[in-house]
Amino acid sequence: MLHLLAQAYLVDGDQAIYTTHGFLIYPIAILGAGATPVVAPEKNYTADVDTILAAVTNKTKMVFLANPNNPTGTALSFDEIKRLHRGLPGNVLLVLDAAYAEYVVRNDYESGIELVATSENVVMCRTFSKIHGLAALRLGWMFAPAHVVDVINRIRGPFNTNGPAIAAGIAAIEDVEHQERSRAHNTRWLNWLTEEIGKLGLTVTPSVANFVLIHFPQTKGRTAEDADAFLSARGLILRQTTAYKLPNALRMSVGTEEANRLTVAALSDFLAQS
Ligand SMILES: Cc1ncc(COP(=O)(O)O)c(C=O)c1O
Repeated sequence: MLHLLAQAYLVDGDQAIYTTHGFLIYPIAILGAGATPVVAPEKNYTADVDTILAAVTNKTKMVFLANPNNPTGTALSFDEIKRLHRGLPGNVLLVLDAAYAEYVVRNDYESGIELVATSENVVMCRTFSKIHGLAALRLGWMFAPAHVVDVINRIRGPFNTNGPAIAAGIAAIEDVEHQERSRAHNTRWLNWLTEEIGKLGLTVTPSVANFVLIHFPQTKGRTAEDADAFLSARGLILRQTTAYKLPNALRMSVGTEEANRLTVAALSDFLAQS
């Protein structure tokens, strides 16, 4: 969907904005469409409305914003999203990527539905890959003004999703109990991981998604790379974030209770031996 939007709305010479640690598919989609990605600096690993607005030029056609963002787990409040929208020229398409919306339990958050419904230049993308656990089915959806839906319908492949994926997607939406259980599990263990890893002396960026970004010191033997090797040897696989301009961090998904406890114990052992 993100690629389709870029293909539909960007041509050579256009610019599209994303933020320093924003989801990496944005620059890939922008470059794939022949346009130029423009990076808006973040503050505290969080997108910043002022720097995004300052990056707008007369060549800007799109802004891609993951809210919450992967891999930082940070999010902007609905007030900030509205301020961003108000500051953008009407010909700039604001793409709100709310892949992790279902996990957010903060009451100042809104995924984008209201803004899409009340404006002509905002779209919201969603996925079945996260809380619904259906990543392998490659299914997502977009809520957008009719004129955008019309354009995307004209350029997408005629059968770009398949029957089994759609059937599973419908079942997943109806399975409210699974979503509630997953959200409750995530909230409990997200808080636990943030606290326990913090107690070990590592900095964890406060997250509203289903993962945490753990920052490591640059001291020899204690780096993110060292930690990754140590954890991997125990079969605990975290995500390196060097490609996200975060070479001193690892992203950890909230796992089962067993996986969460094993990882915290392994991090404790890692810090003790290094
Ligand atoms: C911010 C963000 N947007 C979108 C996606 C897309 O997920 P999918 O292509 O599996 O629907 C991801 C998955 O990693 C993501 O982190």
